[in-house]
Amino acid sequence: MLTLKGIDKCWARGADSVYGLKGIDLDIVRGEFVTIMGPSGSGKSTLLQIIGLLDLASAGSYAIEGRDAMGLPDKELARIRNRHFGFVFQRFHLLPDLSALENVMLPMSYAGIPGGQRKARAAELLERVGLSHRLGHRPSTMSGGEQQRVAVARALANDPGFLLADEPTGNLPSEKGREIMDILKNLNREGMTIVMVTHDEALGALGTRTVHLKDGALDSVVERGTRSEA
Ligand SMILES: Nc1ncnc2c1ncn2[C@@H]1O[C@H](COP(=O)(O)OP(=O)(O)OP(=O)(O)O)[C@@H](O)[C@H]1O
Ligand SMILES: [Mg+2]
Repeated sequence: MLTLKGIDKCWARGADSVYGLKGIDLDIVRGEFVTIMGPSGSGKSTLLQIIGLLDLASAGSYAIEGRDAMGLPDKELARIRNRHFGFVFQRFHLLPDLSALENVMLPMSYAGIPGGQRKARAAELLERVGLSHRLGHRPSTMSGGEQQRVAVARALANDPGFLLADEPTGNLPSEKGREIMDILKNLNREGMTIVMVTHDEALGALGTRTVHLKDGALDSVVERGTRSEA
């Protein structure tokens, strides 16, 4: 469970402050599939980064599993981030010199999981995203859809409580984007909590809840039930 209250994010610009987020209140409960929508510049990526502790709020409170995370030292924040969050980005962000298998193994080595276990788990995760036949391939030899599936497998490597995705289908043709969405929906059905930013109305509507942002503030929230169907 994540609890954000009164979250502001601002940056100094000369003598002024520019606001990216204003007064965001948001709870995310286990098993939800939250989609974040809104115009370009409305603060979607900023909010996702704050949720995943990749960035810190300027004001407000943030608690994960009942534990206040505001004001913790960087090292402790990194530990919480690595333990609780898996990330998927629009541009895949795979390491070009590593194979699919090695890309998925990498976060496990940071987490100190022994070599043999890493390999077996990475192969299993790649199988789950339908890439058993691509284990040894480098990103440049895979399609965008395949690269994003590797990125999803990598995000799951350390068994995170939350999967955070910033426009994961944004760089893919719609049919390939739909495949990624199907994978995310299946993961959600198996219990994974997902927060996804999207511009695509049809994909946004597949979430159990949609949060609409406007000018850095919550504009409206649409609830559709606790678990994704269909
Ligand atoms: N590091 C920063 N310094 C200053 N302003 C920033 C910074 N990061 C984001 N902003 C501003 O905050 C606002 C929200 O940005 P954000 O990237 O969250 O928007 P977004 O909703 O994800 O947009 P898009 O749909 O284009 O990805 C924008 O006005 C942006 O210029
Ligand atoms: Mg963005």
